Amino acid sequence: MPGLAVIGHPVAHSRSPDMQTAALSDLGLAGEWTYGAIDVSPEDFEATIAELSAAGEYAGVNITVPHKEAAVAMADEATESARAIGAANTLTFRDGLIVADNTDAGGLLRSLPYLPDGERALVLGAGGAARAAIWALADAGVKVDVWNRTRSKGEELAAHFKVGFMEHPNPADYALIVNTTAVGLGGEDAFAHLPLTADSFVPGQVVLDMVYTEEPSALLAAAAAAGATTVDGLEMLVQQGALSMRIWTGEEPSIEAMRTAVRR
Ligand code: ATR
Repeated sequence: MPGLAVIGHPVAHSRSPDMQTAALSDLGLAGEWTYGAIDVSPEDFEATIAELSAAGEYAGVNITVPHKEAAVAMADEATESARAIGAANTLTFRDGLIVADNTDAGGLLRSLPYLPDGERALVLGAGGAARAAIWALADAGVKVDVWNRTRSKGEELAAHFKVGFMEHPNPADYALIVNTTAVGLGGEDAFAHLPLTADSFVPGQVVLDMVYTEEPSALLAAAAAAGATTVDGLEMLVQQGALSMRIWTGEEPSIEAMRTAVRR
């Protein structure tokens, strides 16, 4: 009975178990496969993963905050995306080896209504989520600019990925705007902290806010009102999860079943 789980700290509020269990059910694998949640502290992370891999009961795990960097560092093998991003959200236990992958990158691309290759994208933030977004978009041929509150960190990241840095971006210049910062999650005014105003958005633009809240974020509400296409963090969660499920089971899960479970 192959086990799967999400590993994080904390992890109790993760939507992955419900979402991935729905994916397994829809594939007809729910009797055979299980998907749970395991809370593991940073001190215990490596030992826990090594045990899960050695015990042979688990096929793989999703990795979330704060373990994504440690996951790629301890893996025996890593995909090009996981190495380049420096973080893994998916581990697969295969023939005694721990294989790291990063499906946040592919999940982000799949959550977009179209791929703006050759067009410009603005990525807000310079943390782990920004690294995945920048790498995914740049690798797909999108012209990326980074903005970050702490300029030095943004410039460093932009130089690392050989993309642009903008201290004062003009939002209307971009086909795609991606917010990877947690601004808005705690109820603060996103427009007070980001280089955007409620009338920054233009029709035809795509705006992705990785923050996921029950209601659409203020950012996405303003973008939608301006005629932009909006994508929220739950859609990205679904898409990265579907790619992980495909890696472990070799099958394509139902996006619809996963969306329903995640928004329940
Ligand atoms: P994650 O791994 O989820 O991306 P992180 O590594 O902690 O999280 O990165 C958080 C990002 O959100 C950073 O870009 C941070 O900006 P700084 O580099 O200036 O700290 C950004 N961020 C967090 N709170 C913010 C705020 N109130 N206003 C603007 N940016 C903020």
